[in-house]
Amino acid sequence: MIKTIPFLSLKMDDPNLREEMHGALEGLLNSGQFISGDQVAELERKICEYTNSPFSVGCSSGTSALYMALKCLDIGPEDEVIVPALSWFSTAIVSKELGATTVFADIDEDLNISSESVSRLITKKTKAIIPVHFMGNMAKMRKLKEFDIPLIEDASQAFGSFVEGEFAGTMGDFGCISLNPMKSLSALGDAGMILCKDEEYKERLSILKYCGMRNREKNECSSLNFRMDDLQAAFLKIQLEDFKNRKSKRKKLYDSYANSFRSKVEFLELQEEACPYGFTLFAQRREELIRHLDEKGISTRVQHQPLMSEQQVFKNARKETKNAEKLVNKILSIPFYDNLDTEDQGYIIEEVLRFYE
Ligand SMILES: Cc1ncc(COP(=O)(O)O)c(C=O)c1O
Repeated sequence: MIKTIPFLSLKMDDPNLREEMHGALEGLLNSGQFISGDQVAELERKICEYTNSPFSVGCSSGTSALYMALKCLDIGPEDEVIVPALSWFSTAIVSKELGATTVFADIDEDLNISSESVSRLITKKTKAIIPVHFMGNMAKMRKLKEFDIPLIEDASQAFGSFVEGEFAGTMGDFGCISLNPMKSLSALGDAGMILCKDEEYKERLSILKYCGMRNREKNECSSLNFRMDDLQAAFLKIQLEDFKNRKSKRKKLYDSYANSFRSKVEFLELQEEACPYGFTLFAQRREELIRHLDEKGISTRVQHQPLMSEQQVFKNARKETKNAEKLVNKILSIPFYDNLDTEDQGYIIEEVLRFYE
């Protein structure tokens, strides 16, 4: 019988973690605090501690984190926001939702935003740049800082990655992190976090996250509800305690693939201290490879095609996408998750290598 290996499995196998999660639910039922309560405050404190970020604000998703960061900078009509052409769609749609113009920069071979392309796209109207730390690899933040334009890091795929001691999400003006179940630090539903250095931004974000209200009494600006649930915060606290273990499991998985493919099959090399989000091949004859793996019961995905700049709402956007167009036709993500066992990973490696033999 043919094996079937899903692209992603989010089942939680670890009995200790499961027990702790049940305990967290019990605790919450007793506390009666369900939204923006003590669990959220404690998670924010622990995330600051882990990432060395001065401030953090829990929210309902990575998308709402990005949206609030832009709103905090008062971005709206007349403003332009530069994003890479390759990312999950949230990165691009948030500025459009605020009435601003989304401009698409090209990417480099590491799949992260190209600072040369950004430099050509900057105008007087550019009010923010959103670099994405794609697949766990950090974008070239030092280069991007030279433009002296607010930087909103989309660190959704890179929680726990760092370079030279600086964590993803802490190098720009804001760090926006999705904590949804697919992410390296994951809730059991939607959740997100914004990191920032400036206390005034932190205050503003706290107001923006609930209808623009200060202390539920006084309205200060227009906004909607982006609060985090305490249940998700309680689950996330448990995951954060275990994060060192999780990161090392993910690095091991990544290394196993990398060591088997190096010099045989092209793939995305990760930085030494990246927390891997997935494993991306640069596949020659990609469609044939997808078919071969599918016949062997192995599911794959292209993360993310079409490019954001090719989606319907952005068909008239200003863009530079030459390299992105080339790369998006080669990338292929293969199964990558904590409970992918050694035998299944071995089978995937064998089948990829067999295809290229
Ligand atoms: C790079 C990137 N940005 C933003 C998001 C949006 O996060 P969320 O699904 O939590 O809204 C995701 C996740 O799906 C992502 O991968």
